[in-house]
Amino acid sequence: GDPPFWVGKRVLMTAGPTFEAVDPVRFIGNRSSGKMGFALAEALAQAGAQVTLIAGPVSLPTPPGVERIDAESAEQMLEAVLARLSDTDMFISTAAVADWRVAKPAEQKLKKQSGQDSMTLELVRNPDIVATVAQHPERPRWVVGFAAETDNLLEHAREKLQQKGLDMIVANQVGDGRAFGQADNEAWLLHRDGRETHFPLRRKEALAEALIQTMENWLNDSKD
Ligand code: C5P
Repeated sequence: GDPPFWVGKRVLMTAGPTFEAVDPVRFIGNRSSGKMGFALAEALAQAGAQVTLIAGPVSLPTPPGVERIDAESAEQMLEAVLARLSDTDMFISTAAVADWRVAKPAEQKLKKQSGQDSMTLELVRNPDIVATVAQHPERPRWVVGFAAETDNLLEHAREKLQQKGLDMIVANQVGDGRAFGQADNEAWLLHRDGRETHFPLRRKEALAEALIQTMENWLNDSKD
């Protein structure tokens, strides 16, 4: 018969936050812990996939059998992803990539002046990594995104699936202490063909296993 679905599949992933430098000692970041992405990487490696994980600044051990590359900013993460895109079967974008970076990070530590009571940072748009991958000439066969939303979760997730040109998207509710930094997560998996599955709240490790099982089922019985 056929080999198990994930065996030998090359999966490239991003996880964690990005840090965007303000000056040599300060950054703009976010509350992503990287747990969901690391749990997915571990589940995929366990299932036999060849996993490369581009990790933002997180304090998590590298899952067994996973090749891990560290990146700090969105631009560094994009560069690391593009360098490894060829021969990838699936790209999974779990990273909470900063939408903006500081236009001109200071070369020296910024000093506050006496009497100064405000300051302005100019921000410029970061590249959208998953959208770049989805439009790339070497686009992997499957491109999967995440959507973390505080409101109108499924509506926003369906929109992102379409606008970013993804095959699937994992939607999870954030805010009110949910998801970011937590051990548990509740999610939906949406396919561009309209299939949708709900995964009630559970440990991120268990959610990762359920997600890859559903992806396997869906991808096995569709021609894409
Ligand atoms: O647009 P939004 O950030 O909500 O979309 C989330 C999805 O897009 C996630 O899969 C995230 O990893 C990805 N993303 C990205 N590069 C960005 C912003 C988001 O890859 N600059």
